Amino acid sequence: MEQVIIMPTFASLMLFCMHFTYVLAQSPLPAPVSAPPAPPTIPVSAQSPLPLPLPPPQPAAAPPAPTTTIFTQPPALAPAPTGPTNVTAILEKAHGFTTLIRLLKTTQSAERINTELNTTNQGLTILAPTDAAFASLKSGTLNSYTSEQQTELIQSHVLPSYLTISQFQTASNPMSTQAGGTNYGLFPLNVTTTGTSVNLTTGFAHASILNTVYTDNQLAIYGIDHVLLPQRFFVAPPPSPPPAPAPAPSKHVKKAQPPPAVSAYASNAVSLMHEISFRAFAVVGLLAAYWLF
Ligand SMILES: *[C@@H]1O[C@H](CO)[C@@H](O)[C@H](O)[C@H]1NC(C)=O
Ligand SMILES: *[C@@H]1O[C@H](CO)[C@@H](O)[C@H](O)[C@H]1NC(C)=O
Ligand SMILES: *[C@@H]1O[C@H](CO)[C@@H](O)[C@H](O)[C@H]1NC(C)=O
Ligand SMILES: *[C@@H]1O[C@H](CO)[C@@H](O)[C@H](O)[C@H]1NC(C)=O
Repeated sequence: MEQVIIMPTFASLMLFCMHFTYVLAQSPLPAPVSAPPAPPTIPVSAQSPLPLPLPPPQPAAAPPAPTTTIFTQPPALAPAPTGPTNVTAILEKAHGFTTLIRLLKTTQSAERINTELNTTNQGLTILAPTDAAFASLKSGTLNSYTSEQQTELIQSHVLPSYLTISQFQTASNPMSTQAGGTNYGLFPLNVTTTGTSVNLTTGFAHASILNTVYTDNQLAIYGIDHVLLPQRFFVAPPPSPPPAPAPAPSKHVKKAQPPPAVSAYASNAVSLMHEISFRAFAVVGLLAAYWLF
């Protein structure tokens, strides 16, 4: 008779313990192993050095271009430009930059530069290879580049600040360009000066400044005698450092390693559940033994 009473009690105790176990296993774990996932970071290669939106299309009637074009003379005082600066209009007026103008247009770099000039506080400096400079490249060179490379080629001739000739003398090497990083294999540009003579090198191409094409205290354009083909076009950048050895108990779980983080999390959950089940059944066992005997 005693069995009849004990069995339902035992069964409900089992049910209670199982439910207890289930709830605990479902509930969020205390102290998660992994830190909250870091916000997604944009890969460096995807970052645009020209993040500004393109300007709205301009009316066909372009505002008059700035009137100063200076060759081999100290910059004269330019009358204030009457409209936004238009880099292709300036180069057209200067003559001898048709290849550069074509590249600026086909890569949409002209619009981006014009937009930047409208908003920058630092100004820009453009190293403008002459038609003769482009002509001295091995034939077919430009066409062998992808449009992305052609854009990089333009960007590697644009310095992200306004530099006078004398400011080249104090620039520190490697100089940054809009093309991106200056580490080996990327887009470093070095300058050497003697008086007002300025030489530039990427390590694979060398050029000298020929003249001042344009300057207005915000934009400087200097003619150069060779195309500054960037290092990136000749050597691969060094491989990124190998992934750090997996830190076993570290709380800083790298976002690139979600599987270990998840399995650590899961195995913690499993072992917690096992422990709770074990304790629950030990209690059940004790109670049953007490009630039975
Ligand atoms: C800039 O000048 C070029 C050539 O003069 C012209 O075709 C173009 O429409 C101008 N762009 C702007 C934004 O005014
Ligand atoms: C220049 O900026 C002004 C205001 O900041 C804006 O109205 C104008 O459309 C911009 N022009 C260009 C060519 O981006
Ligand atoms: C610049 O380069 C030219 C020829 O490449 C060289 O004769 C001249 O000495 C160089 N000047 C400087 C300042 O490095
Ligand atoms: C540029 O200058 C940096 C710093 O002086 C130097 O480490 C690097 O080798 C130079 N590169 C070239 C191509 O001249």
